[in-house]
Amino acid sequence: MTILVTAASGALGQAIAEELRAHGARAVLGARDPAKLGDRFETRRVDYDDPSSLRDAFADVRTLLVISSNAPNEARLRQHAAAIDAAREAGVGRIVYTSFVGAQTPGDNPLLEVHHDAERRLRESGVPWVALRNGLYLDSLPALLGPFRETGVVAHPAGDAPASWITRRDIAAFTVDVLLDETTQNVALNLVTEEARSFSSAIDAVSQKTGVAIEYREPSDDEYRGMLRRAGFDEGTVAIFVQVCRAMREGALGVDESSFHARLGRPAESVDAFLDRVLAV
Ligand SMILES: NC(=O)c1ccc[n+]([C@@H]2O[C@H](COP(=O)([O-])OP(=O)(O)OC[C@H]3O[C@@H](n4cnc5c(N)ncnc54)[C@H](OP(=O)(O)O)[C@@H]3O)[C@@H](O)[C@H]2O)c1
Repeated sequence: MTILVTAASGALGQAIAEELRAHGARAVLGARDPAKLGDRFETRRVDYDDPSSLRDAFADVRTLLVISSNAPNEARLRQHAAAIDAAREAGVGRIVYTSFVGAQTPGDNPLLEVHHDAERRLRESGVPWVALRNGLYLDSLPALLGPFRETGVVAHPAGDAPASWITRRDIAAFTVDVLLDETTQNVALNLVTEEARSFSSAIDAVSQKTGVAIEYREPSDDEYRGMLRRAGFDEGTVAIFVQVCRAMREGALGVDESSFHARLGRPAESVDAFLDRVLAV
């Protein structure tokens, strides 16, 4: 049973590799530059933009984990399609894809459309598939808060609708469980904490836990783009930040149901527990 993990050089890929190692599971890690992957696992070159690398890497794979790319949306649409096509042509037994909450109803948000399109391609591929609809990374929350202790301000146009979160560590635990269980197939699963929390309520919790009064400002999308550009972000990242905030504001990232507890027999780390852990440092 060969398991191959693509984009394994990224933060989620590394957390999954760690979890696979903890399970003593055999797996192959793939990346554009296999030198980034260390020597604990067999490695292969997997570049979504190079079809021959996909064909060669997927040849004997039974379960393929396609970790979504961090390229700009137009490129990601093409890259995920290429990975799914190559997996089908190579005779891969099952494709597991890291999707995103909100993929089901993308509206006209390009970020959600990327994952909606990949899920549609999976369903139409004829290959058994699993879509793991990951919540927002809780790990990203401290960076989103910025230097609030000095400024007393957090500014993102993220609104106050409930949003679903999860740590990469919990995603990795769940994902490896799915990778090792071939009976899980043809299903989309929500990988989120039990309780959805709006960005504004997370900021309130940070205020309470730290004793720092925080003003939550919501700039317009245009003002926000300007802020991000001045902070040095490239245009692809600026676009994704704006689309994430819009999806949060419009309530597209809040889901009521989580598959986590039923599968792993424990709850995912909550927003409050995460904040207690990271704010204590
Ligand atoms: N749920 C959330 O809140 C959230 C937040 C951010 C991102 N995401 C999505 O989740 C994915 C995984 O998260 P992460 O934290 O691991 O992101 P990350 O650390 O930015 O890693 C992204 C990975 O994509 C790889 N990649 C980019 N272009 C590629 C290509 N042409 N062919 C093969 N691999 C390519 C990168 O490879 P290199 O090492 O070669 O650059 C890297 O391994 C992201 O890529 C993004 O789609 C989700």
